[in-house]
Amino acid sequence: MSTSNPKARAWDALGLKYYFLGRRSGKPTRATIRWFTADLVPSSRCLVVGGTSLAVIRAAIRTGCRLEVVDFSARVCDEVRARVPDTVTIVNHDILQPLATDGSFTHVVCDALINRFDDDEAGRFGRQVARLLRPDGVLRATVKLGHYPMDLRLMEIAAGRAGVAFWDEDTRTIDYGMLGDLLELGYARHGGIRREDLIGWYRNRGREKRYQESDLRQLFASKEWSWLDVHPEVAGSDRVRLEARRASR
Ligand SMILES: C[S@@+](CC[C@H](N)C(=O)[O-])C[C@H]1O[C@@H](n2cnc3c(N)ncnc32)[C@H](O)[C@@H]1O
Repeated sequence: MSTSNPKARAWDALGLKYYFLGRRSGKPTRATIRWFTADLVPSSRCLVVGGTSLAVIRAAIRTGCRLEVVDFSARVCDEVRARVPDTVTIVNHDILQPLATDGSFTHVVCDALINRFDDDEAGRFGRQVARLLRPDGVLRATVKLGHYPMDLRLMEIAAGRAGVAFWDEDTRTIDYGMLGDLLELGYARHGGIRREDLIGWYRNRGREKRYQESDLRQLFASKEWSWLDVHPEVAGSDRVRLEARRASR
């Protein structure tokens, strides 16, 4: 049974089809997978947030570190469980809700997870990760900046209609729950994922902010963080790699 977060339903609609059938651009590059796991050693304690990041999980397993995967979708947890050794702990839990294991991780990694959050959720995520990391522990996250092509298409279609209720310019937040029949008209294909599955995914994604680099710098500007680096995944890319180091308590 997935957690109570309605967004979990979006990922219950897809499970690991996102990883196996989804478009390439929705996944980290090989170099980014190496970056995520760069200094993981057997004594490291790593938390991967998001089971659809299977390549990152597999790379972390190869380092021999103590690995935990948290995901609020029961389907994703079950499908990952079937593909990784029992030494990997899998927790069906919403990362935005309190977790028992505070302050014990050396690494927290997530691929484009922050993109699935609105402002409030992103703030809660930052505070949660600060609680989960040991002093000098690191968060490594990739984040796509700006609009998805589908956003722009939906706005184009909506422009001919009264009002674009699904987009809030002030907070740069899209609300998939407000799309109504626009979704069927404007949804974007995603690799080889079937239309029905995609509609179920998009329909339940809720509110998501479209980030700029300045938003990310603000998110990790608090005293909990002693160091922050944000750089493009590859030159000219709209995906960035973000690394934040936990300050000592
Ligand atoms: C890592 S994120 C994003 C992946 C993908 N690259 C994208 O661009 O959509 C997706 C994964 O994170 C999980 N996830 C999303 N929000 C979560 C939350 N609040 N708590 C736990 N898992 C979450 C989803 O169930 C899914 O397996």
